[in-house]
Amino acid sequence: MHYQILFVVFLVFATMAPLQALAILFATSLFIQNLGDAATCSDCFVHSRAAYYPNSDEQGSDTGRCGFGTFGATINDGDVSAVSDLYRDGLGCGACYQVRCTNSNYCSDKGVTVVITDHGGGHQTDFILSRRAFGRMAQTTDAAASLFALGVVDIEYRRISCSYPNKNITIKIDENSNYPNYLAFVIWYQQGKKDITAVQLCETQNFVCKLLDRSYGAVWTTTSPPSGPLSLRMLFSDEDGEETWVVPLNNIPGNWKPGETYDSGVQVNV
Ligand SMILES: *[C@@H]1O[C@H](CO)[C@@H](O)[C@H](O)[C@H]1NC(C)=O
Repeated sequence: MHYQILFVVFLVFATMAPLQALAILFATSLFIQNLGDAATCSDCFVHSRAAYYPNSDEQGSDTGRCGFGTFGATINDGDVSAVSDLYRDGLGCGACYQVRCTNSNYCSDKGVTVVITDHGGGHQTDFILSRRAFGRMAQTTDAAASLFALGVVDIEYRRISCSYPNKNITIKIDENSNYPNYLAFVIWYQQGKKDITAVQLCETQNFVCKLLDRSYGAVWTTTSPPSGPLSLRMLFSDEDGEETWVVPLNNIPGNWKPGETYDSGVQVNV
C-alpha cells in the first residue's frame, strides 16, 4: 500500500517535470510573441528626438523635398515636419504622425499632429518640426520658450491617420509640367494611414494605361502622357502589404494646365 502511494507520488513528480518544462516553454513563447507584437505594433509610440527648422518661418518649407511647394509649408496650419528615415525615399511624404515630447515639466500628453512634407535630419533626430509644430508640443507658451531654448528634445511618435474634413483628394499639376509632353503632379489631402505606392493614368476612350514614375518626394511624372481626359488610378498600400486600387470619380481634363488643381471627387478613409 505504502509502496503504491509512493509510486503514485513518484509518477506525479515524474510527469510534473515535463509539465513544468512545458509551462516554462509556453510562458517563454508568450513572452517572445509579446516582444514580436511590440516590434510591429502600429499604434505604439517610438522614442526618438526632434528639432525645429532653423529658419525663422513659423511654418514649413516651400522647398521641402516632398515637392509639395507652398502646400507643404502651410498644410495642417503649418504643423508639418521634415523626417530622416521615415521619409522612405519619398513614400513617407504626406504621412501623418502624432509627436509628443517627453519632458513632463513642459510637454502636453497630446503633443502635435504633423504632416510630412520634407526630408532632413541631424543630431540623431527623426523629426525636424516647423517652429509652430515644435511649440505646440508644449503645455504653455512659457514651456514652449523652454523647449525652443533646448533646441533638440526627446520625443515619442506614432503614425496616425491623416484627416482633411471637407476635402477630396486633389491633384496639383506641377508648375514644371509642359503640356502635352511632360506631366508632373502631386496628390493633396490623402486621408488615412496608407501609402500611395503606384499611380496609373488611363485614357478614358480605349483604356490604355501608363504607370507613372515617382521622380522624387511625392511627385509623380511621365513623359508623353496619354491624351484626352485622364482617369487616375492610385494604389494604396498599408504596412501589412494589403493593397487597394482607388479610381476617382473625376478625370484630369485633357487640357490640363501646369499649376492648376483638380478635385478627384473622392476621399479615402483607410
Ligand atoms: C468631393 O467630391 C464629391 C463627389 O464628387 C462632391 O460632391 C463634393 O462636393 C466634393 N467635396 C469638396 C469639398 O469639394
